[in-house]
Amino acid sequence: MTQPVPIKFCESDADSLAAQPGRIAVLADAGTTLPPLVRKLDKLTRGAVSRAVGSDAFDKLKPGESLDLAFPAGLAADAVQILRLPRKATQDQARKAGAAVGRALSGVETLVCAENHPRAADIAFGLALRAYDFTPHKTAPPKPVGPVTLMVSAPEQVAAAAGAGAAVAEGVFFTRDLVNEPANVLTTDDFAARLAAMQELGLEVEILEEDALRALGMGALLGVGMGSETPSKVVVMQWNGGPEGEAPFALVGKGVVFDTGGISIKPAGGMEEMTMDMGGAGVVAGVMRTLALRKARANVVGLVGLVENMPDGRAQRPGDVVKSMKGDTIEVINTDAEGRLVLADVLWYAQERFKPSAMIDLATLTGAVIVALGHENTGVFSNDDALCDAFLSAAKAEGEGAWRLPMGEAYDAKLKSRIADMMNVGGRDGGAITAAQFLARFVKPDMPWCHLDIAGTALLKADSTLAPKGATGWGVMALDRLIRDRFEGK
Ligand code: BES
Ligand code: MN
Ligand code: ZN
Repeated sequence: MTQPVPIKFCESDADSLAAQPGRIAVLADAGTTLPPLVRKLDKLTRGAVSRAVGSDAFDKLKPGESLDLAFPAGLAADAVQILRLPRKATQDQARKAGAAVGRALSGVETLVCAENHPRAADIAFGLALRAYDFTPHKTAPPKPVGPVTLMVSAPEQVAAAAGAGAAVAEGVFFTRDLVNEPANVLTTDDFAARLAAMQELGLEVEILEEDALRALGMGALLGVGMGSETPSKVVVMQWNGGPEGEAPFALVGKGVVFDTGGISIKPAGGMEEMTMDMGGAGVVAGVMRTLALRKARANVVGLVGLVENMPDGRAQRPGDVVKSMKGDTIEVINTDAEGRLVLADVLWYAQERFKPSAMIDLATLTGAVIVALGHENTGVFSNDDALCDAFLSAAKAEGEGAWRLPMGEAYDAKLKSRIADMMNVGGRDGGAITAAQFLARFVKPDMPWCHLDIAGTALLKADSTLAPKGATGWGVMALDRLIRDRFEGK
């Protein structure tokens, strides 16, 4: 898997600056006195640094943005990157400043002078996240990154704070790798093997194969995979770091490794994007990895339904009726509304087997949520205000966009079927909501539940603050924080 760039922390040392090769990044804020290391650089460059900080160009920068002084006289370094970051910067601004360094990272040495800035660990986190690059399918050797050193006044303390962030970054990278991986590589078998490998980290991982799913009665999930050569599976990952016997928190993910639409086939243009249709399962896997890496004091179970939606002689047809594990029958009007069929059975299984205290599912479920919210916010649906508010504040604290959308009986009524208990689609209007209503039918009455439709946020076509274009890992940070806040009191 793609590993975050290692970051070393060391004491501030003004004497090493002149001979420092590569790139040097410093923090400054117009109108305030420059920190000691920056003053030293200013002296070595005969005032070039302070001129840059006093310039109009610097004045126009927002907190977290930067400008480059290239090939400065008086230094061995090729560039000094001057980051605008006030001492009272927010977490988001500090991550953004770090990301500016991460984006510019190359094979040369990079030194970040963070001195005694209170947000040094956030700078390191943003740097690591933005330095991600997905290269396994480039034949040219990947461009080397690092080494990166952060100069700070209390290195042990900052390194400890940054350690928790490193576990999160590794979880985010795991999610991004899974989401970026094409479907000829990331088959259901390959996906399951990558999850099973996490047993090394102390997670308990079980793989349920088709026979077992049939015995459990998962007709809705199995119907989706009938046209595919790669077998349907459910993978269960358990992390039990909390009190023994305490009911776990459950995370459930849609893992459609490729969605052609099935017999209700999708148009060719853009179909290649459907390699990301396992994004929900990818986030669940990333969170479980983070929990294991940081040895979270919480009981969490992650369940993912892994299938491929293909057209074939054996594929499920529009008009077919399938029976879910719950026992309800479903008329499959459109084979492209497959994610909800997968989740119906995995949600039910999660509740029957684990009796969780609460449950959150993630899925790249509908195009309709993109029409509603674009790519800035995940659509959030819930039957429980307290759980939903807790999630929304965790997402906000992590800078991950999330917006609640309504549910209600009138939407649910759209799912009525003439010949079965329900249809799998509720019409074009309010499509993200009727999809959520479908899932709600497989949530037990008193189970606090949230559904996150990440169709618009799992993958972006342009660079964002903390990720290059492609998979974002949206949700790993928010869910890790929710678990920390809810179970670990920190
Ligand atoms: N995987 C898609 C949803 C999707 C669309 C994800 C765009 C990411 C980007 C899902 O399985 C799907 O095909 N949904 C249909 C539902 C419809 C048939 C009711 C859709 O949104 O068109
Ligand atoms: Mn589909
Ligand atoms: Zn899909």
